Amino acid sequence: MTDQKSDLSRRHLLTAGMGAASAVLLASGCQALRPAAARPTLTGQPQPLDLAPDADIRCGIIGVGGRGTGVLRAIHNVPKVRVTAVCDLNQENLDRAMGIVADDQPTAFGDYQQMLKSDLVDTVFVMTPCYLHAPMAIAVLESGRHCYCEKPMAINTRDLDRMVRTVQDTGKVLQVGTQLPHASPWHGAIKAVHDGEIGEPVLIHAQRHNAGDLPHHIPWFFKRKLSGDTILEQAVHEFDIFNAIFKGVPTQASASGGQAVLFDPPGRDIMDHYGLILDYGKNQRVVYTHSWIAIPKAPHGGRVEMVYGTKGCVDVEAGMIYPRDGEPRKVNPEPAGDSTQVAVQNFFDCVRQGKHPLTDVIRGRDGALVALLGLKAIDTNRVVTMQELLAKGYSA
Ligand SMILES: NC(=O)c1ccc[n+]([C@@H]2O[C@H](COP(=O)([O-])OP(=O)(O)OC[C@H]3O[C@@H](n4cnc5c(N)ncnc54)[C@H](O)[C@@H]3O)[C@@H](O)[C@H]2O)c1
Repeated sequence: MTDQKSDLSRRHLLTAGMGAASAVLLASGCQALRPAAARPTLTGQPQPLDLAPDADIRCGIIGVGGRGTGVLRAIHNVPKVRVTAVCDLNQENLDRAMGIVADDQPTAFGDYQQMLKSDLVDTVFVMTPCYLHAPMAIAVLESGRHCYCEKPMAINTRDLDRMVRTVQDTGKVLQVGTQLPHASPWHGAIKAVHDGEIGEPVLIHAQRHNAGDLPHHIPWFFKRKLSGDTILEQAVHEFDIFNAIFKGVPTQASASGGQAVLFDPPGRDIMDHYGLILDYGKNQRVVYTHSWIAIPKAPHGGRVEMVYGTKGCVDVEAGMIYPRDGEPRKVNPEPAGDSTQVAVQNFFDCVRQGKHPLTDVIRGRDGALVALLGLKAIDTNRVVTMQELLAKGYSA
């Protein structure tokens, strides 16, 4: 992999939206980063949708495959929201989705640009393969609609930067589909750490060891240029949680990984295992492994996120606190519910109220930056700093 033509990219990062209408703060969430490599944040709140409180929000969706269909059902459950347009290239998927929301009487599209040219939608969900997220979400925002975009928000630093600028310049809501922190137990576990219940967080030990494989009938998952590799396509859920716990992004990563077991379907070029060490600052570290080669009947597979602090630890997945002195207890379970349903409801609340969502464009960018940092460390077989990544850029 080669670095992007990065002077331009860096200038964009440093000057993103700095005109009078769209001034951004150059704020660093990570103290160890020098100002020259800071990450722009948003100023102000988005405009609310201009709608009577009891009027329906009209919603379109692009991409109704596996994930899009699940999210479509969640949208359909939200009161005062109507699915008025459904778009997919795949006729079978389109027909199935149209059937699910038939009572909303949606219009079907094969071309998302035609959907955006219509006057049918106020909000659009982007549920397509990863390499399409940034161009589609940017087109949605520039057409004047609010957007919910699946993770990863983009698979290169240039598009991450463009997404932040577009949100700032259009004043629209952009929510990224890292839905876990919206619901229990993740919400309560992160809050427990921030409330000091384990003292200072020091070490996160985490893993996602998948048994079984990605669906072979969906080719884009297996091509790094389309999915961003498994580190962008899947692990951004974990990176979002690490960033939330340590309130920033890592200063550097060391990593190693490869493809040793899974070579089907033919042409597959994504890693089937890798490991990362992320440094978030003094005594703030993550050790993370991610693989698709776990054995179903063997122990220690699945997801683990343990946060060890000066006064105890939190099991994020189980929502349990283990104090150094005292008995284990559950974290506060609020808010409960299916994380996707809660996230989708939150998006429509933000659209009505004119608020940036919990998993906003900044959080989406920062999760993807961790993935690109790790990917570059794996590709180059050396320690890579966030400062270097921001200065030079990188692409899956
Ligand atoms: N947040 C989560 O927990 C979660 C879970 C699973 C997947 N995802 C993400 O959701 C996205 C979709 O994943 P999936 O498993 O549904 O994949 P999928 O291949 O099943 O669905 C993608 C759909 O997009 C359609 N599509 C492709 N190009 C299009 C275009 N130009 N215009 C219109 N439609 C187009 C395809 O025909 C397909 O129906 C991915 O980015 C994935 O990473 C997120």
